[in-house]
Formats: sequence, structure tokens, C-alpha cells
Amino acid sequence: MSEPRVVVITGGASGMGRGTGEVFAAGGDRVVLADINSNLGRRAAEEIEGIGGRVVFHDLDVTDEGSINELVEWTESEVGPIDVLVNSAGILQNPMSITEMSMEDHDRMWDINNRGLYMCCRAVAPLMKDRGWGSIVNIASSTSFNAWPLTAYVPGKTAVKMLTEVLAGEMGPSGVRVNAVAPHVTPTPAIQARIDAGERDPAKITAQQALPRMVEVIDVAEAIHFLCSPEAKAITGVTLPVDCGYLVANTYNAYPK
Ligand SMILES: NC(=O)c1ccc[n+]([C@@H]2O[C@H](COP(=O)([O-])OP(=O)(O)OC[C@H]3O[C@@H](n4cnc5c(N)ncnc54)[C@H](O)[C@@H]3O)[C@@H](O)[C@H]2O)c1
Repeated sequence: MSEPRVVVITGGASGMGRGTGEVFAAGGDRVVLADINSNLGRRAAEEIEGIGGRVVFHDLDVTDEGSINELVEWTESEVGPIDVLVNSAGILQNPMSITEMSMEDHDRMWDINNRGLYMCCRAVAPLMKDRGWGSIVNIASSTSFNAWPLTAYVPGKTAVKMLTEVLAGEMGPSGVRVNAVAPHVTPTPAIQARIDAGERDPAKITAQQALPRMVEVIDVAEAIHFLCSPEAKAITGVTLPVDCGYLVANTYNAYPK
């Protein structure tokens, strides 16, 4: 059995972050769930520990560089050298035009989904580079590849894909791999609330995919786990769609007849 790794997951209180924590913990790794939502995060850590995982919660606000640095310093001294960083903290957007979205909401989204993710990578990069190992996985989106009417979210997720490629180039020579996953619509609490409110229709979503089932949190978590595994040692700089074939169905079904 391989040595347990130290895995830091931002946005670890909920959705894909929490699900990813469960998968790493089930594999014997030591997981730090970090999130702005302390109550939810502490409960998530307790629940995963309850089924045998080694998980702790730590407060994090990805918009605050001091909070990120504190998380990294605490993890390195109390848990161990960070082997894996998963950037899952993020917020979603409802469809709207460029004039409908306030600049305040636009800036908040970029602050969390992009500047926050950037600062988290920036905080661990020198540590991983010095040690000559490490793996970072960012959560991009199927919208990193095509246009949806989400004026701040989509450009931001495309930027996550490109940052992943830039950092893979920068950190590869030091033995550090940087990848991303690109999930299609997945019923995390953020999406489930929209489904429950009648704003999203699972039947319509699956009808647009090659595989007629929704992407589940576990699918994304397993893909992230694989990208951090020794089996993926030759893979860096990719943004892996976890989309039940949404992207391929999109072009396949758009064949002009
Ligand atoms: N659910 C989907 O359909 C879907 C599809 C593609 C990509 N994604 C991406 O997956 C990631 C996770 O989303 P999710 O669907 O699991 O949502 P979620 O709301 O369940 O989880 C996001 C977590 O991020 C945390 N967070 C928000 N702001 C933060 C901050 N400033 N500092 C620290 N933590 C903060 C929240 O508290 C929450 O626990 C996001 O980046 C999202 O854009 C989601």
C-alpha cells in the first residue's frame, strides 16, 4: 500500500469538494476540507471521519490571501507536506445578459472562481516545486469549451482551463502535475436547488448528452482521484471533460443536414 498523501480541498464543505474528500479519504489519504462555510465543513469532516476517513476541517476564504497562507502553513505544520491541492471553491451563475449582471456580482464571481483559485495555486506552487512532487486539480466546467449565457462564469471557467495549462508548463519541469476536470451539470446542492425550483430540468439536460444519465458527484471525484494517481503520471495540462458526452453530442447533433 502506498503512503497516505496530504490532500487539501478548497470548497470541501459541499458538492464536488466534499465528494472528492470522501474518495481520497476512502483511499487512506489525509484530507483537509477547507471552506468559508465552517458549520457545513465541520459536519462534513465529522461524517467522513465517522465512516473511517482521516479528515479535518479548516476555515478558508479564497478571496483573502492571508486566509489561504494560514491554511497552507497550518496544514504543512499540523498535517504534513501538501501532496495534492484540489480547487473546488466556487459559485455558480444564472443565465443573464451582460447588462443584467451587476459589476458587483461579476467581480465577486471572478474574485472567488478565478483570483481565489489563482492564489491557492500560488501558495502551494513553491512548496511543491521545491519538493519536486505534487499534483493540483482545478475544477473547470463543460462551459470551459463552449458558450452558455453565463457572462461572468463561462469566461472565468475558460480562464481556469488556460491557467491549468500555463501552470502545467511552469511546474512540470519540477515534477509537479497540474490538471483540471470539466464537469457538465451535476446535482450538487447548488444545482439541486435549481432543479427543485424548476429552473433546471434533468430530462432536458440528459437529452443533450451522449449518455442518458446525469453526471454525479462521485464521477467527478473519481476523475480527480485518478488525475492525482500514479497511473496518471504522464498526464499534465489536460482539462478532462466529465460530461456524459455532452460536448461530443453537442457537435454530433449539430451536423448540418
Ligand atoms: N455543479 C455543477 O453542475 C458544476 C459543473 C461544472 C463545474 N462546477 C464547479 O464545481 C465547483 C464546486 O461547485 P459545486 O457544484 O460543488 O458547488 P457547492 O456550492 O456545493 O460547493 C462549493 C463550495 O465552495 C465554497 N465557497 C464559496 N465561496 C468560497 C470562498 N470565498 N472561500 C472558500 N470556499 C468558498 C462554498 O461554501 C461551497 O461549500 C465550482 O468551482 C463550480 O463552478 C460545478
